Amino acid sequence: MRIPLILSCLLVACTPAADHRPPAKEQAPTTSPANVSHGEAPIGATETPPPVDAAAPARATAKLHKVRLEMMDTVVTIAEGVRYHAWTFAGRVPGPVLRVTVGDTVDFTLINRAMMPHSMDCHAAEGAPSRVYTNVMPNDSLHYRWVAKVAGAFMYHCGTAPAAAHIANGMYGAVIVDPVRPRPAAREYVLVQSEFYTLPGAGADSATTSLDWPKFLSLAPDHVTFNGRGGQYATHPLPAKAGELVRFYVVNAGPNRVSAFHVVGGIFERVFLDARATPTLEGVQTVNVPVGGGAIFEVRPPEAGDYPFVSHAFADATKGAVGILKVE
Ligand code: CU
Ligand code: CU
Repeated sequence: MRIPLILSCLLVACTPAADHRPPAKEQAPTTSPANVSHGEAPIGATETPPPVDAAAPARATAKLHKVRLEMMDTVVTIAEGVRYHAWTFAGRVPGPVLRVTVGDTVDFTLINRAMMPHSMDCHAAEGAPSRVYTNVMPNDSLHYRWVAKVAGAFMYHCGTAPAAAHIANGMYGAVIVDPVRPRPAAREYVLVQSEFYTLPGAGADSATTSLDWPKFLSLAPDHVTFNGRGGQYATHPLPAKAGELVRFYVVNAGPNRVSAFHVVGGIFERVFLDARATPTLEGVQTVNVPVGGGAIFEVRPPEAGDYPFVSHAFADATKGAVGILKVE
C-alpha cells in the first residue's frame, strides 16, 4: 500500500535520531534489473577499466616462496563510477592471492610505502603476533619466514589498530594452502567478499569517497563486493563448462557481513569449511562464510546457461555481492 506523501513526511519527521530506517525515497525497485532469478545486477554490461581476474593462480611448484608485499594508498573503483581512497596491499583491493602447498616455506617481506603504520595478520600462518604481526612504520619493513601447515582458504589483513578501519579501507586478501595430495582437477576461482562504507569527498578530492565511520558502526555498507568491485562478475561473467567441476575459494574479509554463499541452479557437491581437510558438508545449497574465515565450494553446473552466485543475504547481493557463472 502506498503511504500518502504528507503522511510519509510526517513519519520521517517523527523518526527518532537513533532509527536507521532509510529515507522514504529509498524504496525497492519495481523493475527487475536482471533476467535471471537472484541476478540483482545487469549481466554483460560494459565496464572500464577491466575487472579483477577471479581465476585462481596455479598450484605452486616451488617449495620456497619469496613474497615481497608493499603497502600503499591507492584510489580504486569499488562499483561502476565510484572511486574509493583505499589503503592497500600492492596497490590493489583485495591484495594479491598467495598460493602455496602444505610444507612450503614463505620468505616474507612486508614494506610500508604509506604515511601511517600498517601490518599483516596472515591467518594461514601460525606464530606469535607480538613477533610477526607488529606494526611496520612508514618507509620501514619487516621480514620473517613461515611454514604452511594447514590446507584451506585463509584471509590475510592489516591488523594495525583500529583494524576495523584498516580492513574497511581495503587491506585484505586471500591465501590458498593446497594439500600435498592435489585436489581433483577443476576450474578454480577465488572470491574475496568485502564491504565498503562510503563518505563522498573523504578521499584526496571531492570525487573520491573513503571510509564513513558512522556507517561502519551502523553495519550499513553502500557496496558489498566480490574481489573489490560490486557486480563485476555480472558484467564480466566467469566462464565454465557444463558438467565441469568448479571450485570456489571464498574468503570473507567483511569487516562486518557474513557471506551466505550460494550458486543459483546448483547444489554444492562438497564444501570444505575453513581449513578442514575432508568435506564438512556434502549436497548443500547455501553455506555461511564467517567474517575472517574462508571455505572451499565445489559445484558442477549440469547444463549450459547463466548461474548467478550470490551472498544470499539479499541486501548484500543488491549492493553488489553477485556474479554470474556463464556455462557453455
Ligand atoms: Cu593498515
Ligand atoms: Cu584476522
